[in-house]
Amino acid sequence: MMSATTAPVALATTQPAAAADTQPTVLATTPSAAPVVEVLSAEKVFPNGTRALEPIDLTVGQGEFITLLGPSGCGKSTLLKMVAHLIEPSEGRLRWWRGGHESVGQPGRKLVFVFQDATLMPWANVATNVRLPLDLARVPRVQSDPRVDQALGTVGLGQFGRHFPRQLSGGMQMRASIARALVDQPDLLLMDEPFGALDEITRNRLDADLLRLWWERKLTILFVTHSIYEAVFLSTRVIVMAARPGRILREVVIDEPHPRDDSFRVSQAFAGYARQLQQLLIEASDGRPGDDSNATHESASPMVNRTH
Ligand SMILES: Nc1ncnc2c1ncn2[C@@H]1O[C@H](COP(=O)(O)OP(=O)(O)O)[C@@H](O)[C@H]1O
Ligand SMILES: [Mg+2]
Repeated sequence: MMSATTAPVALATTQPAAAADTQPTVLATTPSAAPVVEVLSAEKVFPNGTRALEPIDLTVGQGEFITLLGPSGCGKSTLLKMVAHLIEPSEGRLRWWRGGHESVGQPGRKLVFVFQDATLMPWANVATNVRLPLDLARVPRVQSDPRVDQALGTVGLGQFGRHFPRQLSGGMQMRASIARALVDQPDLLLMDEPFGALDEITRNRLDADLLRLWWERKLTILFVTHSIYEAVFLSTRVIVMAARPGRILREVVIDEPHPRDDSFRVSQAFAGYARQLQQLLIEASDGRPGDDSNATHESASPMVNRTH
């Protein structure tokens, strides 16, 4: 059968030199993998009294692609920001590579945050935007320029370094944002609905490219999305969250081999996972499907302090 010889085996056999440290061909979850991030009973109450997160326990293992899926306001961004050390938990704690946050940034322990908005500097060309983290780290141009070129090539923007952000489509701007994230060779990528503003076809393409990158670079990714389909396609594990108060409802392992391609999207298995997640999301929204249309955070929604 033709499918027997396609993707899953191909990667292992085309990279014999790296065989000693390649990931197993079939990778679903890696429960025994070294923890990259441990969220240890971390909860968040904002100063205004909003209880954004109940105590959360979550371990992100080396090489996992974990997606946080849940209705608007369930604390996905809050959790991701805690992992990024952008906000502190009010109770509990986190560990990064088994240490405190001061250990982050060393080789093998770099994390980057990719926002939904590409947040490019409009007055600077794409290459300058992508070079920003290296400029901030005072990396000399002789070293940074080839790295910028490489990062742009990786995301398919090799010919666009001299363009300005306004000359790029939304999808290309997100690619530039990802190139900027990759240029410093991160080990952990935190992505908050990075493709949420894009049309579905562009999003699918970026998802496929991101998944390929994750696989080839052995990245660890913690990804936030509203989209069931995106979660199924990308993840080794989906963490379904519920709101009021924000909490983890269930975890679903997407036990499908990598690398994945478009044939997975139309498979029975894919449909089965999507159905399962759909049911969980209905549960997460208190039986009110479609309640997650408002993607903005810090909105006026007074989902505060309801008794549980
Ligand atoms: N800085 C803040 N101050 C007060 N409340 C906040 C703040 N940020 C988020 N919230 C509230 O915390 C809850 C979770 O928000 P958020 O993490 O943005 O959810 P999600 O990303 O899942 O949509 C929401 O009720 C939101 O309004
Ligand atoms: Mg959010």
